[in-house]
Amino acid sequence: MTTMKTTNDNGGDVRLTRISKSYGSFTAVHPLDLTVPQGTFFALLGASGCGKTTTLRMIAGLEEPEHGTVHLGDQDVTHLPPYKRPVNTVFQSYALFPHLDIFENVAFGLRRRGIKSVKKQVDEMLDLVQLGEHARKKPHQLSGGQQQRVAVARALINHPKVLLLDEPLGALDLKLRRQMQLELKRIQTEVGITFIHVTHDQEEAMTMADTVAVMNAGRVEQLGSPADLYENPKTTFVANFLGTSNLIEAEVDTGSGDEIVLKAGGGKLSLPRARCSAPATTGGKMLVGVRPEKISLTHADDAGEIPEGRNRITGRITDSSFIGVSTQYVIDSPACPEFEVYAQNIDRDTRLEPGAEVVLHWNPAHTFGLDAAQDIDAGVETVAEEAA
Ligand SMILES: Nc1ncnc2c1ncn2[C@@H]1O[C@H](COP(=O)(O)OP(=O)(O)O)[C@@H](O)[C@H]1O
Ligand SMILES: [Mg+2]
Repeated sequence: MTTMKTTNDNGGDVRLTRISKSYGSFTAVHPLDLTVPQGTFFALLGASGCGKTTTLRMIAGLEEPEHGTVHLGDQDVTHLPPYKRPVNTVFQSYALFPHLDIFENVAFGLRRRGIKSVKKQVDEMLDLVQLGEHARKKPHQLSGGQQQRVAVARALINHPKVLLLDEPLGALDLKLRRQMQLELKRIQTEVGITFIHVTHDQEEAMTMADTVAVMNAGRVEQLGSPADLYENPKTTFVANFLGTSNLIEAEVDTGSGDEIVLKAGGGKLSLPRARCSAPATTGGKMLVGVRPEKISLTHADDAGEIPEGRNRITGRITDSSFIGVSTQYVIDSPACPEFEVYAQNIDRDTRLEPGAEVVLHWNPAHTFGLDAAQDIDAGVETVAEEAA
């Protein structure tokens, strides 16, 4: 196995301080503070046009920020040209040299620097991306995924401190993309350098990254581990863009202590204060969220069997789709007209068909509270557009 752990000399974190970029009167990136810890796999996630590429290009030096600074460790690189930064970029269009074989494509960076004996390093790099036996092929003889691995090897052979990847898997079909996600993650773990990966695909970001920054309209809305973002979204955009959330308009009934009680659709819901990112004033509005897989469905006839202390809402099933591992239900309730529930297929209750009266119930700890001043549908359409 190849190991190429970078030494910790003057490497360090990537630190963006108040960087911004406008094109004419349009602000592509609003003043942005971001620290990417050395050696981590970091993803910038957001819909097309939200400013991901612009941010990446400012780190690479391909775009000059209007304001703010870019640091790599202690070094201020804001005004350094791209080739003087210890940074390499891999793009979606991998642009390999068609007339050179794979070995020479990977060797390119070394040869350009006048290094004569390249074989050991190139072989190591081809091993790392598992293309050793293809060394003498031309790019057109390789699959898309293999070509993308050549592009990664060609960048890594320069021993950058940071590898930037801009939608590198965008041109690959779904199955290959999944494979390459795991492959890139393995390569990053092996070489141990910082990867900053730009993608509009939330599953891709969550699969690969240690930390994800969710961008929306030129701003980072929330930053955290995939699990943290998923379980504790702080905005409606994050709640809707990462997976699916049921968001309910509710009114604060009592807001004291560790528990907030809310009124929604004629019933009451409990929310732990720690999971609430909005002020809770009695009589005020709040958006209450719960993920579809956290909810259990019980036929109304069995409502008495539901344990005490669970949040519950009554409704009627309007749609159900059996998709193998789970059944996805849509439920019309006074709290929310299209409540989504995913039920794992273990012991299916055959009464749970469209038309059935049901009780939806869940652990209050799985509830989250958001500021009601936001657009409840933020991040919903963007997902649909991307998928189209
Ligand atoms: N050179 C440019 N001139 C004018 N507008 C630009 C330029 N580059 C990017 N933009 C605009 O800035 C916004 C952000 O672009 P970009 O960073 O490429 O988004 P993303 O990579 O997230 O899709 C977009 O609305 C885009 O149209
Ligand atoms: Mg882009």
